[in-house]
Parts: sequence; C-alpha cells; structure tokens
Amino acid sequence: MTDLRLKNILDRSESYVGKAAQQVKAEPIIQVENATRIYQVGSNNVHALRNISLEVPKGVLAALKGRSGSGKTTLLNLIGGLDKPTSGTVILFNEPLSSMTADQLVDYRRHRIGFVFQSFAIMPLFSARENVELMLRIAGYNEDRKVAALRALDIVGLGPWANHRPWELSGGQQQRVAIARALATHPDLILADEPTGELDSGTGRQIMALFRYIVAREGITVVMATHDPMIEEYAHVVYELSDGQIQDVHYPHPA
Ligand SMILES: Nc1ncnc2c1ncn2[C@@H]1O[C@H](COP(=O)(O)OP(=O)(O)O)[C@@H](O)[C@H]1O
Ligand SMILES: [Mg+2]
Repeated sequence: MTDLRLKNILDRSESYVGKAAQQVKAEPIIQVENATRIYQVGSNNVHALRNISLEVPKGVLAALKGRSGSGKTTLLNLIGGLDKPTSGTVILFNEPLSSMTADQLVDYRRHRIGFVFQSFAIMPLFSARENVELMLRIAGYNEDRKVAALRALDIVGLGPWANHRPWELSGGQQQRVAIARALATHPDLILADEPTGELDSGTGRQIMALFRYIVAREGITVVMATHDPMIEEYAHVVYELSDGQIQDVHYPHPA
C-alpha cells in the first residue's frame, strides 16, 4: 500500500511523540543487572555479553544498536526469557525471570511479550488476518479473534489488505503483518530483532516510524535490535552495544 493511509498514520504519530517521550523517566519495564552470557563452543568460551546492566523505561521505543556479533540477539533472548544469563539477573515487569517456572515463562511469552523477527516468519498459505488470528488462538484469546485481528491490522495500516496472502504483499507489508500479529494480544512489550534487516531503507524507515506510533498509541514498550543508524531518528533511547558491552546510552528523542 502506498501510501496515503500510511502517511496519515505517520502524520498522526508525530503528535504522540512528545507524550511518549515524557515517559522516558518512567519506571523501568526491563532491568538487566550484570548479565553475562558465555556460549561454550567446543573447548572455547564465546563471551556474547560481558557484564551488561541496563534499564528500559516503560512506554518508549528503545534500540539495541550495534554491529553484527555485538550481542543484540543474545540480549533480546535474555529479555524475552528464551535464554538465561550465565551470570547476572534479568527483571521483567518487576519480577526476576530466574524466579519463574517454565510454565510462567511460557505464559509471559504468550501474553505479555510480542516477538518480531527479521524474516517476518508469517505463514504463506494464510491471509494477513488468518496469520494474526492464529497467534491470538495460540495465546488462548477467547474474544472475537476476527475483530481483534482486524483491529491490529488497522493499526499497522493494513486494514484493506486483511484478506491478502503474503505473496500478494510487499516485504514491508509482510513485516507489518508480523507486527500486527505481535501487538494483537495487547502485550506490554514487543521485542523486534532486526525487523528492518531485509527491507530497503525507505521501507525500513516506515517500520521504525510505525513502532514509534505503536508505542504512543498502544502504550506498548518496543525494544528493537538494529545496526541501522537511521534508528537515531526514531528511538527515544539507544543502547549502543559493542563486543558484548554497552558502550553508550543516549536519548535522541527525550521529552
Ligand atoms: N548459539 C551460539 N553459540 C555460540 N556462539 C554464539 C551463539 N549465539 C551467538 N553467538 C556468538 O555470540 C556473539 C554475539 O552474537 P549475537 O548476540 O547473535 O550478536 P548480534 O545479534 O549483535 O549479531 C557472537 O560472537 C556470536 O558468534
Ligand atoms: Mg542478531
């Protein structure tokens, strides 16, 4: 789609930016304390994360920025409860992940966190709406899934494309289906790993702007890993990673 509809969404998002950014001082939704993650590869130890500490405030678009191999995916996996630190603590929604049972973690991932990946990972034989409905079903969502799916597709500007299948959609549109799928369950947090990695730069910008809009409109916190310098134009807070450490934290769009 192009993209009057999307343009309207992005224009509208401008008026929300100040509001969301004021929350940069809000309470943390994620706290990582002295987290180290060492992978054993044969007899070698790979230090993917070295004693990382950070806090992500609620209600912002936060970026984990760094080159390939800097530790972004490892950190996202720790935050999402998909992996555990070798040492250190990850606290999500004020609860240490280490104190949760496996069932509680699954519950968290289904209901409180949405995931978006570089490769979209949507089902090729399902329409946009069916892709979103499938996620709602997995999450045990009992309300009208069709209505909820259409609402989510509307938010990402794909309302008119709800019945189209992935092959009829551009890469940017497919990624927006994946984003609709992630937000349809009303999570507190969306974790996105290089969501613009397979898109051209203009489309990548639209995805970043869309995340900012979602933060403002839905109150969802978004943490996005990227190596794209353009993120500086969109993120409220940027954590720069290098060689498994945080080199810098800055606030390109404070209040
Ligand atoms: N499953 C794994 N086994 C061994 N080494 C890994 C594994 N996952 C990541 N690494 C290593 O950890 C470091 C950080 O990787 P990663 O978190 O994927 O970085 P990024 O997402 O920034 O590219 C890299 O040196 C990578 O090779
Ligand atoms: Mg990665």
